[in-house]
Amino acid sequence: MASRLSHRARTRLPSAIRSLYPAEKLPGMISLLSGKPNGETFPIRRITLDVDVQSATKSTECITLSLEGQDLEDALQYSPTAGLPRLVQWVEELQARVHKLPRQSPDWRCSIGAGSQDLLIKSLAALLDDGDTILTEKPVYPGILPQLRALGVNVVEIEPDNEGVKPSSLAETLTAWWTDESTRALAFPKVIYLTPTGGNPTGATASKERKKAVLDIVRRHDLLLLEDDAYYYLDYSDVGDDPVTRTRSPSYLSMDPSAKNVLRFDSFSKVLSSGMRLGFCTGSPVLLAAIDQDSAGRNLQPSGVSQGVVLAVLEAWGISGFLRHADRIACFYRNRRDFFEAAATKHLLKEPAAARWSTPTAGMFLWIELLLPSPDSFDLVSQRAKDAGVLAIPGMAFLACPRPSPFVRTSFSQVPLELVDEAFWRLRKVIDQAWAESGDARMK
Ligand SMILES: Cc1ncc(COP(=O)(O)O)c(C=O)c1O
Repeated sequence: MASRLSHRARTRLPSAIRSLYPAEKLPGMISLLSGKPNGETFPIRRITLDVDVQSATKSTECITLSLEGQDLEDALQYSPTAGLPRLVQWVEELQARVHKLPRQSPDWRCSIGAGSQDLLIKSLAALLDDGDTILTEKPVYPGILPQLRALGVNVVEIEPDNEGVKPSSLAETLTAWWTDESTRALAFPKVIYLTPTGGNPTGATASKERKKAVLDIVRRHDLLLLEDDAYYYLDYSDVGDDPVTRTRSPSYLSMDPSAKNVLRFDSFSKVLSSGMRLGFCTGSPVLLAAIDQDSAGRNLQPSGVSQGVVLAVLEAWGISGFLRHADRIACFYRNRRDFFEAAATKHLLKEPAAARWSTPTAGMFLWIELLLPSPDSFDLVSQRAKDAGVLAIPGMAFLACPRPSPFVRTSFSQVPLELVDEAFWRLRKVIDQAWAESGDARMK
């Protein structure tokens, strides 16, 4: 596994102070070690939280939780780089249960980060050197692109269908690597980055069969698959059965329980709070150690207060309560998807149709292909639609190598429902204007 690490990760100096932290816990040890401030000087005496437990216990009440005593001290103080031990343990229990991983295994563990973004960015630095190559979906979550650019990494996009990356395109690209003109001058890929559930921007979700096919190819070429599953708990395709006992869609990690070819990223942002900035990474201890070492030298650790607050909520709910809560959120987004798509259908599919899309079964995005006089949505979305009072993101923003795209990413997570109809009416109006100005005959 160490051979997967970048030169940067292999030569990074460990933090002299943080690497000795575990020794402070040894029985009888007197620590003169760190420059931790004395907690007695901190002015916060208690953090009280009113938490909605409707979804966790089926009651309609809020419960009041307190962070005090040792838990408060731990939250306010510097703490382990990989996360507060009880929170790490909680997410490891969750991963073992949801992804059917062996609980006590040397093959995997979890680290907490300041959002899954933090862990993703650090993992890219831990795996890729200047001149290395990464494979991504086309289009791709743009949050990773600045880091790839900064690292000097080549990005090769793989053709998708409505389940994300297509196994035939992936296999073809890899097999023809040394003969195809577009790839033969590049280093053979080390890593593939995928967002298998409710992808951002496409909303695409990969089925179990699709994941098996992709993972087979990944194994054949010994790639490492970065499974960015920020929308895993927003999969509304099969909510309805008992949230606690139902079998959730199998992740890539569940198909690779020894974590040889998969490093998985989860986020608390979509299910608890995005402002807490907490996410977690699950995979080989060797890779996680490299990510932790980056944290130790960069931001030391994720926020202890955020971790303390989230831990209090999760321990009050238990894993079953968390899963019930997650399903309630998935239903919330499914209802929004239905409402949003109905308005899109009314305005954009009215004859002559002005768009087409695949209905998302997870996440918060409707990725719409606009049928325009020229297949480039950039000007229409970023200028004309904005002037008409509707904001969305042109497809070009999600391409690793910017080029024209007829797509637009629309989000149904937050828009007030009473404004959705008007939003699509405005979008339709600017599309019709573009056709009228072009003088071209419209395709039926
Ligand atoms: C695909 C994807 N990955 C990662 C993230 C980052 O999430 P977090 O808030 O956990 O850092 C996002 C955020 O929107 C996302 O869409």
